Amino acid sequence: MRRHRFSNGVNTSAPTHLFIRMDKTSPNLIIKQLEIGPLENFVYLIADRETKEGIVIDPAWETEEIIREAELATIVLSKIFVTHIHPDHINAAKEIVAYYPIEEVYVHNLESPYINDPSLTIISTFDEDEITLGTVTGSVVHTPGHSPGSQCLYIDGVIFTGDTLFVDACGRADLPGGDIEDLYYSLNERLKNLPEDTVVYPGHNYGRTKTSTIKQEKQNNIFLSPTSLDDFLKLFQSF
Ligand SMILES: [Fe+2]
Repeated sequence: MRRHRFSNGVNTSAPTHLFIRMDKTSPNLIIKQLEIGPLENFVYLIADRETKEGIVIDPAWETEEIIREAELATIVLSKIFVTHIHPDHINAAKEIVAYYPIEEVYVHNLESPYINDPSLTIISTFDEDEITLGTVTGSVVHTPGHSPGSQCLYIDGVIFTGDTLFVDACGRADLPGGDIEDLYYSLNERLKNLPEDTVVYPGHNYGRTKTSTIKQEKQNNIFLSPTSLDDFLKLFQSF
C-alpha cells in the first residue's frame, strides 16, 4: 500500500544522513541531496558546474554536515533559499552564514517579516522573481497552502518543492497559516502545469523514492488527481 505522509509527521526515527549524487538530472548544475535530522528533511546543495557558486536550500539540523558536503564538492555557498520558515527548514541558517559570507537569504515576502535575526540578510521574494547562480538563472514559484509563503525554486529543469509537493504526497494544510484551498491551486494549477520531465526534489523523504518527476507525480500522486477544489477537499477529509 502506498504511504501517504505529511510534513512534520510522527516519524521520530534516529537522525539520518544520506548523501546522494544525482548530477545527471540537471545539465548545468551540481545537485546534492542530503537527508538530515529527525524529520527526514532534505537539505540541498546546488551549484553552477562552471563557477561552483552554490546555494543551500532549507539549511537545517546539522550545520557541520552541510559544510562538509559543500567543501567535499568544492562548492562555495553564497546564497540560501528557504522554501518556508518552519524551523526544520531554516534552523541551521544562522550557523551557515557565520561560516560563509552569505548576503542573500531568500524568503518569501509573506514570511520574511517573521525573521528577526539580524545576522541573516533577508531578501524578500515574490512569485516569478529570478535567482541567478553563476551562469544559471532560476525562478521563484509561489505555492501557498502548507504555509502562506511557501515557495519553490524552479531552475535548469528541476524544482525544489519544499513541503508543498512530496513524492506520492503533499504537505499538510492544517498548521497555522495553512490553507487547503491555496494548496489545491498550488498543486493543481502551478506545479502540475510544469513540463512533465521536470525533476522534483521534495523537502522531506516521505515517498517511495527520493526524487520524482512531474509526470510521475501526475500518474502516482493522489493529491494531483482531483480536477476540482471540491474533490480535493473531499480527498483530504478522507485522511
Ligand atoms: Fe513545513
